Amino acid sequence: MNSLVVTGGVPLDGTVQVLGAKNAVLKHMVAALLAPGTHRITNVPRILDVEIMGKVLEHVGATCAFDGDSIEIDVPIDPNPEAPLELVRQMRASILVLGALLARCGEARVALPGGDDFGSRPIDMHLDGLRDMGATFELSHGVLVGSAPDGLRGADIYLEFPSVGATENLLLAGVLAHGVTNIGNAAREPEIADLAAYLNQMGAKVEGAGTSTITVRGVSGLTAADHRTVPDRLEAGTYALAGAITGGRVRVEHCRPEHLRMELQKMAAAGCQVEVGESWLEVTGPDRPVPVDFATLPYPGFHTDMHPQMVAFLSVAEGTSIMTENIYAARFRYIGELSRMGADITADGQHVVVRGVPTLSGAEVDGCDIRAGAALVLAGLRARGSTRVTEAHHIARGYSGFVPKLQSLGAQIDIDA
Ligand code: EPU
Repeated sequence: MNSLVVTGGVPLDGTVQVLGAKNAVLKHMVAALLAPGTHRITNVPRILDVEIMGKVLEHVGATCAFDGDSIEIDVPIDPNPEAPLELVRQMRASILVLGALLARCGEARVALPGGDDFGSRPIDMHLDGLRDMGATFELSHGVLVGSAPDGLRGADIYLEFPSVGATENLLLAGVLAHGVTNIGNAAREPEIADLAAYLNQMGAKVEGAGTSTITVRGVSGLTAADHRTVPDRLEAGTYALAGAITGGRVRVEHCRPEHLRMELQKMAAAGCQVEVGESWLEVTGPDRPVPVDFATLPYPGFHTDMHPQMVAFLSVAEGTSIMTENIYAARFRYIGELSRMGADITADGQHVVVRGVPTLSGAEVDGCDIRAGAALVLAGLRARGSTRVTEAHHIARGYSGFVPKLQSLGAQIDIDA
């Protein structure tokens, strides 16, 4: 998928169903390495990042068999504790194999991660926490070499910031450590609670996941388990805003609206009609949104991965909105692209001033990361004329069936290889 071509002006109308969360399933795949045997993970989206993680696992010695929306992962008794540079560079989530392989093998060699271009994304909290658990690290030719020959030991760790990845890495490390690990100021994302649920299905003893204090009592071994991945709140929220920006109506099924409370609250404040049930939501967009201010924050705050889509929506509001990005230092490249479509947006430090305009006009724009790509498609759905979103392979990293799902809602969108 090189480019997407969108012709705007059609209000979306219809129903889509979402699959499991990318940011949960990638962690489940890593967690499987903690227990030999055959695991089955269901509700899995067929996206590029899942395929890359499958290759990481295969390098470690596991086999991954995809069957529709499930993966069967066969984990060997003696994994190869190494994640290859060419794969890790493509996806930051690979850093999580560090905790899992250290726990399982007492050693790990993991190339330093790549991923989206949001400015510097350090892993100091991951490493400090693992050091507290007895691991040592050396950096050799771009590869992080971790070692804990006598096994990891439980520790009291208090994170400087509720990092999703650091919380997960320490959780994965803690389940097979000697003793109790307490993770304070832990990230509270639903995907972390889902990871803990899967680990507990394997026989781990994790309490408090989904709150800011997680307690992990190390056990001597785990057994393979089956798990159904929590629905993707970002996929659900993106389709809701796709409908809203066109002044249309989109119903999303197989989702968990309670995981999108802040985002739906802001959509309602912007003039959307929002209805929710236990596993569905329906959003009807206004002709033009009412301006709203919002700030991205760790869960349950407004998700940074919904920020570009929300800014695209507010770019056609009747008035000025202010958005503050608190998670990433540099997630603003898409703003220049939206401006090329006629949006009036300026960034100053972490703050973005979105002066609503009545219309956007189609242009060629660069979808520089997963959510930026999605946001630009949303803008294209509203714009006059045709929009070409290049670098659309980023979208395929995070959304399965993005084009057919939008087409089923009436969007005029096609892949132009
Ligand atoms: N950070 C540090 N040091 C660390 C770890 C993080 O300074 O040791 C900083 C990061 O640089 C960033 C902030 O803390 O500024 C938050 O990072 P966090 O660790 O919470 O994020 P992550 O685990 O790297 C996951 C998602 C991201 C999502 C963030 C925030 C996965 C694979 N990725 O990243 O998802 O934006 O949490 O919710 O789970 C996406 O799906 O498009 C995506 C980028």
